[in-house]
Amino acid sequence: MDLEVEIGRLKLKNPVLVASGTFGYGREYAPFLDLNILGGIVVKGISLKERSGNPPPRLVEVPCGLINAIGLENVGIERFLKEKLPFLKTIDTKIIVNIFGDSIEEYALLAEKLEKSGVDALELNISCPNIKDGLVFGKDKRLAAKVTKAVRNVTDLPIIVKLTPEVTDIVAIAREVINSGADGVSLINTFPAMAVDVNTRRPRLSNITGGLSGPCLKPISLKMVWDIVRTLNIPTVGIGGIFTAQDALEYLIVGAKAVQIGTANFINPKVSVEVLEGIKSYLKNNGFKDINDVIGSLIV
Ligand SMILES: Cc1cc2nc3c(=O)[nH]c(=O)nc-3n(C[C@H](O)[C@H](O)[C@H](O)COP(=O)(O)O)c2cc1C
Repeated sequence: MDLEVEIGRLKLKNPVLVASGTFGYGREYAPFLDLNILGGIVVKGISLKERSGNPPPRLVEVPCGLINAIGLENVGIERFLKEKLPFLKTIDTKIIVNIFGDSIEEYALLAEKLEKSGVDALELNISCPNIKDGLVFGKDKRLAAKVTKAVRNVTDLPIIVKLTPEVTDIVAIAREVINSGADGVSLINTFPAMAVDVNTRRPRLSNITGGLSGPCLKPISLKMVWDIVRTLNIPTVGIGGIFTAQDALEYLIVGAKAVQIGTANFINPKVSVEVLEGIKSYLKNNGFKDINDVIGSLIV
């Protein structure tokens, strides 16, 4: 059974990845599953400087998902390279480093530092504001293009640009980043949200608002993936509400080359391996020998 897929120049042995911010730096999950089975690990978002994130409470469950306001806590690029990457390199899977910055220069600096580090690809989290003008990179197609070009100029690593759903035309943003040198796009990041405790009349998150993830995102993200694939036919990674093999297969059938599993890891740390097993059973039961025959096989 052939499970290999390609996101531009990035070859994955299978289409099941784990999403940034929900799988730590990989090692945290080593006691629970064989990490070598995964198609790839997308590491927690890394910035130039270490960040401690927001104070608690910074996670709140809602009926359809999870709202988080972690605040992009991470160890910073220098500690990542020294303390986290050596372990990740021992795993037989692709290591994709999610990066974010306050300015275009910061993204480029991070990419330069990772260029010769032995990682397999970069994922650009463009769901954060450029401090110069306060505009979120991923909501402005000009800024999204600029940040992608700046990273492309300093690295030959495959680049996946992670899109925010908080836009009116996600296809337009995807088009700009591909034309600016990205190998593919991944979507979606969390959607802005909030929850209120009516007894105290206070927000349930210290940051007041956060990002919504989980099952509620899947139908929205699926439609965005479908729009991008049918319009642009570019390598796309589906993210949002994947808990089962069926969820993952929906994304693959509409045309995603791969998927990332996020919130579900918190409920069942082995979920990624179970999703992969379920995909294999589906291929077998439906007479498919190659995952690429399922990808984009939607009948309309
Ligand atoms: C606690 C938490 C932390 C996250 N941190 C990041 C991050 O650092 N960078 C990023 O690009 N996305 C981050 N995300 C977004 C996820 O990678 C993913 O895009 C989103 O949760 C939707 O997928 P899901 O419904 O499977 O969780 C985070 C999500 C959660 C729940």
